Amino acid sequence: MENSKLMDQEEHQQEETNLLTRRYFLEIVGGGAIGVAAVGSMVLTAQFLSPNVLLEPSLKFKAGSVENFPPASVTLNKEQKVFIVRAREGYFYALSAVCPHLGCIANWKGEEGIIACPCHGSKFDQEGRVLGGPAPRSLVRFSLLLDEQKQLIVDKGLVVGEDVILKV
Ligand code: FES
Repeated sequence: MENSKLMDQEEHQQEETNLLTRRYFLEIVGGGAIGVAAVGSMVLTAQFLSPNVLLEPSLKFKAGSVENFPPASVTLNKEQKVFIVRAREGYFYALSAVCPHLGCIANWKGEEGIIACPCHGSKFDQEGRVLGGPAPRSLVRFSLLLDEQKQLIVDKGLVVGEDVILKV
């Protein structure tokens, strides 16, 4: 009888130990899951609150000083793909050198007095108007300003009308 009581007590203790071990395990797993969920939601909240901005380089550039461009000249800035045109009368404007057909870079043909695209033969006059070829429209004209140091500033982010010129 005494022996049986002792065995019951041992079994009871063993069950309690198993229960504690299981409880401890479940607490650890549960706590870990909550921790992972909390970190995940904090990361998502931080992403949501931070501005979703794509930083791009400025579309403005210095084209050079006025004296660098003689009257009746068309100068290609290869790096920026922009023509700086100075008319015979002395005023300026900036034309995109990107052909509106399929995007090749056009060249100034001084001997013919035209801007020509080497890819499919589009031709433009000095004002950027289409003279021939597959180009569907004129060359884009960009904003052109003069800063305090008499430097020409082109803004490729600002398209202007075909009649906009810069008088100096
Ligand atoms: S890309 Fe200039 S004519 Fe086709």
